[in-house]
Amino acid sequence: MLPLVVDGASYLVDDKAIIEDVSFTIRDAGLTILLGPNGAGKSTLLKLCHGLLSLSSGSIRWGDVNPREAQQKQAMVFQRPVLLRRSAAENIDHVLKLRRVPSAERARVIEQSLKWAGLAAIADMPARKLSGGEQQGLTIARAWALNPEVLLLDEPTANLDPGATRRVEDLIRSFAATGRKVIMATHNIAQAQRLADEVLFLNHGRLLEHAPARQFMIGPSDPLAARFIAGELVE
Ligand SMILES: Nc1ncnc2c1ncn2[C@@H]1O[C@H](COP(=O)(O)OP(=O)(O)O)[C@@H](O)[C@H]1O
Ligand SMILES: [Mg+2]
Repeated sequence: MLPLVVDGASYLVDDKAIIEDVSFTIRDAGLTILLGPNGAGKSTLLKLCHGLLSLSSGSIRWGDVNPREAQQKQAMVFQRPVLLRRSAAENIDHVLKLRRVPSAERARVIEQSLKWAGLAAIADMPARKLSGGEQQGLTIARAWALNPEVLLLDEPTANLDPGATRRVEDLIRSFAATGRKVIMATHNIAQAQRLADEVLFLNHGRLLEHAPARQFMIGPSDPLAARFIAGELVE
């Protein structure tokens, strides 16, 4: 993967720092979890890295390109599935058309990606009539269909029941296992424990710790991170 280098990144709204002087580098494939309580700035940081928002100061680079340029080789999945009022298959077809994939190839990729996500049976169902878990599975299948170098996910299971959460987590794990980079925001410590290779801990817009997941879960060096793990830091 292209290394993600975030250097002195700040994002201000009305003079208030939502992201404040954040610096880190991610060089390795695998699953990076952006962990922190509600309001920590996780969604904002993901959007900045994906080029959906622009920094107030500092820089973010993917290799030698900026986030907007890197966006073409990435996919992002949100907490609430963003789906068109069309069939599951047509939702995937739509993004492939936008990337100018030839029609003969599109049919093959749609079939493969739905199969990969275990959703072949619902190909012709209206996407918005699917269960929450199936809808999120579909957004991940749609991301997979684009064959991105990086997948960014923002609290993708926050609205799902435990069974659907496990199925979506399995998809995310299988995505990361193909050697592609996955960066996912969550406030859920147990989920971070199940999925993370490394953890970035964010609180009030500041990056307080960047550590391998195992080390972080055993005992973070940052005192606020330790309180968060203990369930004592809510916001
Ligand atoms: N456009 C905005 N205008 C004002 N406040 C914002 C805006 N975007 C985010 N915030 C605030 O910044 C903080 C971080 O938000 P967010 O990145 O959504 O955190 P998280 O995803 O960790 O819950 C929150 O307090 C939120 O209310
Ligand atoms: Mg958020």
